[in-house]
Amino acid sequence: MDRAEKIDSIMKRRGFLWRSSEIYGGISGFYDYGHIGTLIKRKFENLWRHFFLGLNPMFFEISPSTIMPEEVFKASGHLEHFTDPIVRCKKCDFVERADQILENILHEKFEGLSKEELNEIIKKHKIRCPKCGGELEEVSEMNLMFPIEIGPFKKVRGYLRPETAQGAYVNFTKEFNALRKRLPIGLAVIGKAFRNEISPRGGVYRLREFTQAELQIFFDPDEINDHEDWESVKDLNMIVLLAGSEDAKEVSCEEMVEDIRLPKFYVYYMASVYKFYTEVLGYPKDSVRFRELSEDEKSFYNKLHWDLEVKLETLGGFKELCGVHYRYDHDLSSHEKMSGESQKVFLNEKKFIPHVIEISFGIDRNIYALIDFFYDERDGKSVLKLPFKVSPFDCAVFPLVKRDGLDERAIEIYKNLSGHFDCYYDDSGSIGRRYARQDEIGTPICITVDYDTLKDNTVTLRDRDTANQIRVKIGDLSATISKIIQRGKF
Ligand code: GLY
Repeated sequence: MDRAEKIDSIMKRRGFLWRSSEIYGGISGFYDYGHIGTLIKRKFENLWRHFFLGLNPMFFEISPSTIMPEEVFKASGHLEHFTDPIVRCKKCDFVERADQILENILHEKFEGLSKEELNEIIKKHKIRCPKCGGELEEVSEMNLMFPIEIGPFKKVRGYLRPETAQGAYVNFTKEFNALRKRLPIGLAVIGKAFRNEISPRGGVYRLREFTQAELQIFFDPDEINDHEDWESVKDLNMIVLLAGSEDAKEVSCEEMVEDIRLPKFYVYYMASVYKFYTEVLGYPKDSVRFRELSEDEKSFYNKLHWDLEVKLETLGGFKELCGVHYRYDHDLSSHEKMSGESQKVFLNEKKFIPHVIEISFGIDRNIYALIDFFYDERDGKSVLKLPFKVSPFDCAVFPLVKRDGLDERAIEIYKNLSGHFDCYYDDSGSIGRRYARQDEIGTPICITVDYDTLKDNTVTLRDRDTANQIRVKIGDLSATISKIIQRGKF
């Protein structure tokens, strides 16, 4: 098995995630999390919350509805612009993204081209259906939102939200008032978003139903060239790839402002994202970079758009895991026009529409990335070296054997620890097999109760990453586990 197959096998066998409704064949782009996947997802979301909401005391989480009325997306531009070019075979009905067909055949990137440009290229290269060789229809645009008919009889048209962001925008004025009329404020949403992708591939990387963690930072545009915490990031070096360039380079945040001419307020949040990946999650610096999107690639609402990418072996190179977007006043101004409700604030002796910087994470692809990146092997066995803070269990407790009172003692320790930690209990199979089962799902610490425990009240703690063991007093167990998890190192 290659690396991707091994990872896929662990995900299916051990309760991470798999295609949804698989007993009926499933539908592409929908996945269910099992018990291990759910634990990792919850931990990742909590890490995200603590880190990003901790950046400013005025950053908070809200929970808006996932279904929103059509007007929201008329205003935001999603009804008109949130489309992909689609092409169908006249003979066998095969459908595919037009840019994807061209990319597969011509081995170049065509993302962001108009349908007219794509039609030209199809004609020029005499491109035919990759399945049956039949003639292709003209390229058309397909909107990626899922429409919903709400209520009986006289139905109201709504949509499943294609991004959580709009929930923050339609709540902005209420939150601005509730938060005592100050800026900047940050409104975060962690929740589901839905996109009717034409032909989702790449497993969890591109889904039709997925979880986003997005933070909308509303600020006074006159203050974009400063950030009160700038000193803490100005010397941070990041690897960046400018639009149109082949070579990534390492630059400081100060240079991003002085040489690349980005505003400090924006670079500060790029730096925060970079720190989340390199310091909180522990990705090595040479596997993380920021890529600037070209005019063709940028989302229609963005004035600045850089993606944080991580190098992932099974997906063939650097892949986008987070976007940092300067949405200007695009959304609030459009909602003011469409709803007739003022989105202006009166602050700093002027009336204005705040601007927005958005940090947008796809949670599912981030979880896949962690599993892909931190998968390792020792003596031919799988070891998932996840950062301790996102490992599904903090620790597992085993009796060396299931007799002579060792099992009762182990259960007692398990019960005490599970009030404070995500803890697993296992008394079946050889101790070696039990260690291997925990290594495979990434449990950082295994605790074994043996005959010495009955004599001196100590247990062994085993490190997932080295298999080294230490002896610890039962009374010190909670404090020791807390320290190890906090440190992220045994
Ligand atoms: N809210 C930005 C995005 O969904 O990519």
